[in-house]
Amino acid sequence: MQPDQRLTTVTNTLIERLLQAVRDLNITEPELRAALAFLTRVGQANEFVLLSDVLQVSVLVDELSHAADPQDAATAHNVEGPQYRDAAPLLPSPAAICTPDEPGEVLFLTGQVRDATTNAPIPCAVVDVWQTNLSGYYENEDPHQAEFNLRGRVQCDAQGIYDVRTVVPGPYQIARGGPVGEFLLSVGRHDWRPAHIHTKVYASGYVPLTTMLFVPGDPWLESDAIGAVKSDLIATFTRVTDPATIQSRGLTEPFITSRFDFALRQVS
Ligand code: BEZ
Ligand code: FE
Repeated sequence: MQPDQRLTTVTNTLIERLLQAVRDLNITEPELRAALAFLTRVGQANEFVLLSDVLQVSVLVDELSHAADPQDAATAHNVEGPQYRDAAPLLPSPAAICTPDEPGEVLFLTGQVRDATTNAPIPCAVVDVWQTNLSGYYENEDPHQAEFNLRGRVQCDAQGIYDVRTVVPGPYQIARGGPVGEFLLSVGRHDWRPAHIHTKVYASGYVPLTTMLFVPGDPWLESDAIGAVKSDLIATFTRVTDPATIQSRGLTEPFITSRFDFALRQVS
């Protein structure tokens, strides 16, 4: 069998840097045994992907794979994460991805999908949205939520406009109870992710865009466990308190509006 050139280069670089770190840190035999026992537990718990996430390698590889291009205005890419589900309900815009009694502040998220080079609207794009509830749980990890709650594929109108009614999601922990979570605590780190809304935007002739929008003011924005926060992806929220406007939306409490436009690259 012919050696794989790329794998050989990667392996040789990793070995060189690992041995240098072992030398620099004067790693002891008990420390090596503890590290190997930890990796064994990570494998047994099926947490290698999570380990890559909290070491912030997943986000760095995503950045290297979807770098910004100074020639266009494409929206920043971000990792998909483990909670995406195919085939969420397909909903014409304006759409609601939860029922009116969903706990939390009502959020109307709206915007336009545009061409990253020409800035022209992209008619009939689809914005696939998924998020946690106020308590930080996705519906698939929470028996109290309905199937596909807080998920939906929203079909934009002919002007590329989407309009989603949802609630403001909550921050959440990604490594509760497993070896990766234990490890983070033992090195003074945490496993919190700031509240965010995942999106996947697609349209015929365009490269699909996976990203996430962050809730402004979240206490974990400065220290996201996976390092995914990008300033351009922090949404702007406006709280509406005017009673007449509240009533005109059929609501009884103040609500939030947010506008976020997505710019997609054409398939080359
Ligand atoms: C998440 O947002 O669900 C997530 C994304 C990447 C890694 C871990 C969790
Ligand atoms: Fe998430």
